[in-house]
Amino acid sequence: MIDPKTIESWNGLFENQSPETVLRFFLHHFEGRIALASSMGPEDQVLTQMTTAVDPKTEIFTLDTGRLFQETYDLIDRTSKKYKTRIRVLFPETKEVEEMVSSKGINLFFDSVGNRKLCCSVRKLKPLARALEGFDAWITGLRKEQSVTRNHLNIVEWDDANGLLKINPLINWTEQGVWDYIELKNIPYSPLHQKGFSSIGCQPCTRAIEKEEDVRAGRWWWENPETKECGLHQK
Ligand code: ADX
Ligand code: SF4
Repeated sequence: MIDPKTIESWNGLFENQSPETVLRFFLHHFEGRIALASSMGPEDQVLTQMTTAVDPKTEIFTLDTGRLFQETYDLIDRTSKKYKTRIRVLFPETKEVEEMVSSKGINLFFDSVGNRKLCCSVRKLKPLARALEGFDAWITGLRKEQSVTRNHLNIVEWDDANGLLKINPLINWTEQGVWDYIELKNIPYSPLHQKGFSSIGCQPCTRAIEKEEDVRAGRWWWENPETKECGLHQK
């Protein structure tokens, strides 16, 4: 556990600093003990570019739920090749998926919020816990603007659920800022973004959005905004 005062002082120190400065500090401070979690979304692609520029040996991992878009798999491949890095891919436990599907059905997530959370737990949360074993900090692409469940977050947070530090270097960035950086640095991204998709997760739980809709409106679109977290960042 890191002293809350240290976290507070880091947040004060980095409040007006660039994500590159934040990353440089934490990648050095936790060298070999910090990992980047990537869903292959635009924010994570920006962080992959910035992280590999500082330390190409930093672990980058992605959670393959087994229900991702083909475009996401293609992007994992393209990104690994471009940055000459091995992206660690974690899968859910076969037995747990089989038991869940045989008792609740293949598309259980549409039946209730409880079923949806169970599926996210088996396919994402448990593999995340395995991914984070042995690390003292993880980096995410969270941004305040993304949703009502995220607008209170800071650059540095204590992640109680997983027992380590969470670093959110892009927390204050706008969506436009992310896309400007992607264009500037010629960073690879999913072709689904040109087909109206904004935030992309599992294929059955993601839809394209209309221009006036919220960026995360296409995730679990049948649920209320207050429940729309899979548990990676909020129970
Ligand atoms: S989610 O909780 O709703 O799925 P979102 O897609 O907004 O999260 O992503 C927020 C951050 O969580 C990403 O920037 C990334 O750091 C992490 N993340 C989300 N999904 C994954 C995944 N499948 N693999 C690894 N990291 C992920
Ligand atoms: Fe299951 Fe949907 Fe969660 Fe993916 S997003 S783990 S398919 S409920």
